[in-house]
Amino acid sequence: MSSQGTIIRIAGPAVIARGIPGARMYDLVRVGSEGLLGEIIRLDGPDAFIQVYEDTSGLRVGEPATSTGAPLSLELGPGLLTGIYDGIQRPLQSVRSQTGDFIARGAAARALDREKRWAFEPRVQQGAALGPGDTLGVVREFGFEHRIMVPPDVRGGRLAEIRAGEVTVEEVIARLADGTELRLAHTWPVRTARPVARKLDPREPFISGQRIIDVLFPVAMGGAAAIPGPFGSGKTVMQQTLAKWSNADVIIYVGCGERGNEMTHVLDEFPELEDPRSGRPLMERTIIIANTSNMPVAAREASVYTGITMAEYWRDQGYKVALMADSTSRWAEAMREISSRLEEMPAEEGYPPYLSSRLAAFYERAGRAVCLGAPERNGSVTVIGAVSPPGGDLSEPVTQATLRITGTFWSLDAGLANRRHFPAIHWLRSYSLYMPLFRDWYRDNMPEDFTVLRDRASALLQREAELQEIVQLVGPDALQDDQRLIIEAGKMLREDFLQQSSFSEVDAYCSLEKAYGMLRAILTFYDEASAALRRGMLMDEILNLPQLEEIARMKEVPNDRFKAYIDAWMTRLPEAFGAKAAAEGA
Ligand SMILES: Nc1ncnc2c1ncn2[C@@H]1O[C@H](COP(=O)(O)OP(=O)(O)OP(=O)(O)O)[C@@H](O)[C@H]1O
Ligand SMILES: [Mg+2]
Repeated sequence: MSSQGTIIRIAGPAVIARGIPGARMYDLVRVGSEGLLGEIIRLDGPDAFIQVYEDTSGLRVGEPATSTGAPLSLELGPGLLTGIYDGIQRPLQSVRSQTGDFIARGAAARALDREKRWAFEPRVQQGAALGPGDTLGVVREFGFEHRIMVPPDVRGGRLAEIRAGEVTVEEVIARLADGTELRLAHTWPVRTARPVARKLDPREPFISGQRIIDVLFPVAMGGAAAIPGPFGSGKTVMQQTLAKWSNADVIIYVGCGERGNEMTHVLDEFPELEDPRSGRPLMERTIIIANTSNMPVAAREASVYTGITMAEYWRDQGYKVALMADSTSRWAEAMREISSRLEEMPAEEGYPPYLSSRLAAFYERAGRAVCLGAPERNGSVTVIGAVSPPGGDLSEPVTQATLRITGTFWSLDAGLANRRHFPAIHWLRSYSLYMPLFRDWYRDNMPEDFTVLRDRASALLQREAELQEIVQLVGPDALQDDQRLIIEAGKMLREDFLQQSSFSEVDAYCSLEKAYGMLRAILTFYDEASAALRRGMLMDEILNLPQLEEIARMKEVPNDRFKAYIDAWMTRLPEAFGAKAAAEGA
């Protein structure tokens, strides 16, 4: 038998090779005389169907194909942070080039720096009994204690030897009694979820600093959210805003199949950004996976797995990780393209029949968990996936499959974006299923009436929308004063509360405390105004109160000064209405 297989067909990124010895599903193969990297995605008798991660032009039928005997795996260890990688974890020097040739074909780039030395501090002693996931020690990586763990697939045993000091990722730092060598880095197959000791229900919200999200439609720390939106509605800006401001420890940003110039923008901007919490560069807690539309589709298909595996690795250390995927529709399109090249039977809109199970398997890797191994620690992976439904049609298969598995839905609306209402998340069409899980968290962390105010705000917005319909039909004169007041309150909520510019110096981030204060101001104003109307105050007098203008300017009051500002404002509010009533009574 020959030691290699032979290419019998080439269809773009899909290649069929016959007779590869030892071929197994998902094993990596070297294809052609240039040794292009690919992955076996179907086996049929002697034939292996391979998706090739690199440009296949020039490849010929008859050239060899050999299996590496191992699945697509990542190198996980110190040095990942600040990294910019392609979909199969090759470090990207530059995605500025528009030619598609980002990395020399067939190149076997190393993901982690081989030269850099890390000061390893052991946390266990010789003779200790170790199991999978147990912490051997730590190295310092920027602001993080990077835990060096027994890899989840190592059975464990007694620690025969461990050394402290300056080591590279390849040097042996510890040895188990059975001879197993342990290093700072280990490898893990991207398509296999990393195990945890125990899954936990999400209990706390992921704080985004965006009022509409944190107050009306929160996602759980360890939950999954979908952002579907038509062209230009703000998906990318939202993903980047969350990367900057959310309270996750580590950010994995997967730029998946978006235009090269959009990704270039990210790569130009991110290294300049400062982490608002530490004042350090944001990249020190960020890893970027970039696969633009002009890079090979198979690597794009792999990129979301690369991203989620890195996210799990940081979760396993006990951190809160957020993964942004922009856009999962481009990932699904990569699946569709490869599937059609393989002449698989298509299902809805040409997508393969396994579309929804793939999407589900990906989102199910989000979650909160007790990590594997000692000492006990919890970690989480929160996934935020942008979806780009063609023409904004939410009934298309990728959006539908995504909505079935994500707990939060931020529906971006073209009309709002056209009117420059940002974030263009539609308040009547979005939802969060996580809210009931946060009851204790709200009780312990927020004023008592927070959830009441939030429910009242939702109800007012709903009511306003109904009244707006009447106005559309019969004009504003049909409304009573109390109805006009609801319209005013709705307008305040929409414009002064929900709208929030990602580009405003002060307002890009709004603390939950400030969001609560703003909400209370608007609703108290509404209550006072309702009472005043009943006492005979005129609608026009209410609309002329300076407080309306002040509410509109609250966004620009800095977070740290807001509490003092709002307390004073609330104290004065009754005067605005009461002084008038008192004057009339006199
Ligand atoms: N939160 C926001 N604050 C201020 N402006 C915003 C916000 N979101 C979006 N915009 C504006 O809308 C423009 C388009 O947003 P973005 O590029 O994020 O859309 P997209 O949905 O990713 O589009 P595409 O479908 O082309 O990828 C931005 O350049 C910006 O001007
Ligand atoms: Mg975009």
